[in-house]
Amino acid sequence: MTLEAVRYRRGSLQILNQLLLPQRSLYLHISSVRDGWRAIREMQVRGAPAIAIVGSLSLAVELHGGKPRDKEGLATFALESLDYLVTARPTAVNMARAARELSDFVASEVKRPDSTAESFKENLISRIEAMLEKDISDNRSIGSHGAKHILSAAKTEKVIILTHCNTGSLATAGYGTALGVIRSLWSMGRLEHVYCTETRPYNQGARLTAYELVHEKIPATLIADSMVSMAMKEKGISAVVVGADRIVANGDTANKIGTYQLAIAARHHGIPFYVAGPSTSCDPALESGEQIVIEERPGEELTDVNGVRLAAPGIGVWNPAFDVTPHGLITAGIITEFGVHDPRELRKVLAEKACFKR
Ligand code: MRU
Repeated sequence: MTLEAVRYRRGSLQILNQLLLPQRSLYLHISSVRDGWRAIREMQVRGAPAIAIVGSLSLAVELHGGKPRDKEGLATFALESLDYLVTARPTAVNMARAARELSDFVASEVKRPDSTAESFKENLISRIEAMLEKDISDNRSIGSHGAKHILSAAKTEKVIILTHCNTGSLATAGYGTALGVIRSLWSMGRLEHVYCTETRPYNQGARLTAYELVHEKIPATLIADSMVSMAMKEKGISAVVVGADRIVANGDTANKIGTYQLAIAARHHGIPFYVAGPSTSCDPALESGEQIVIEERPGEELTDVNGVRLAAPGIGVWNPAFDVTPHGLITAGIITEFGVHDPRELRKVLAEKACFKR
C-alpha cells in the first residue's frame, strides 16, 4: 500500500501530520486557507510540490464549503487567498507558481460573460484538483527518465543511490521526485541499495525518507550528513539524486541545506550528481541562484529534538533551511517530466514546452 500524505475528495482535505511521523500517523483536517497556510508554515506538510498542492487544495475546500459569494466576491477571495498562501514559506517556488497560474485563471474566468458564481467556483475547484493528478503523472515520468539515464551510465547491473532530505510521497502528491527515481529503479529490479542522509537539522531523511523506504521494503541505510564523503569513498555509490525547491534559469538549484556540500563531495569522487524536480519547481524568471530567497527557520529546529534541548543554553544559532547548488556541480543533469537535461539547456527546454507564459 502506498503512503497517502494527502487525502482529498471534493469538499474534504486531510493531510498526514509529518511532524508526528514516524511515531504516529495522524491525519489533520484542513478546512480553510488559514489552516492550509498554518500547516505549511509549521511544516506539518512540507516538500516543494506538496506545499503547492495542499495550499491550493485548502482554497478548493474553502471555496466548496465557504460562505455564499457572488462571482466578483469569489474572485477577490481567491486572489487574496493565493497571495496569502505564497507567504507561508519563501524558497520553494511551487506555491508561487501555482498562485500565478490560478490567478490568471481567475482573471480570465471572471471576465467570461457567461460564467456565474456557481460555474466560476466549479471551474476553479476542478482546475486545482487537476494539479493533484498532474503532479503524480509528472513524478512517474521523472522516475522513469531518471532511472533510464542512471542505468545507461552505470557500470554495474544494479546501482547504489545516495539521496538527501525527503522527496517521496510525503513531499509530493505521490510517488516522489528523487525518491520516484529510486522507486523506478527498484521496480525495474536494478536497485541494489539506497543511502539516505539524516538531513540535519530537521531530520526529514531520518524521520520521513527512512519511513518511506522501510514502508516500501527498499533496501536502505541511514547515514548522518557528516558521513557522505566517507560513504562516497567506500560504499560504491553509483549516483547522487536529490530534489529541488527552486531551479532557476541557469540551472542553479535551491534544495535542502546540505545539498551543496553533497554536490561538492560527489564532484570530488567523480560520482554523477542529479537534481530531480517537475517543471513546477522551475523558476526561469530568476537568472541565477544568487537571487533566491533562502528561508531561515527558528533556532529550536537546530538546538532541540522533539522539544528537548540538546545545545548549550546561550549559544547563537544560524538555521538556513536551504542552500543553492551551482549548476556546474549538477554534473549528470536535471531530471524533469520532459527528460534529463544539461542544466545549461533547461531554459531552452522549458521555453520549448511552453511551461511559462510570463
Ligand atoms: O524544508 P522542507 O522539508 O520543505 O524541504 C524539502 C526539500 O528540500 C526537498 O528536497 C524538496 O522540496 C524537494 S521535494 C520533492
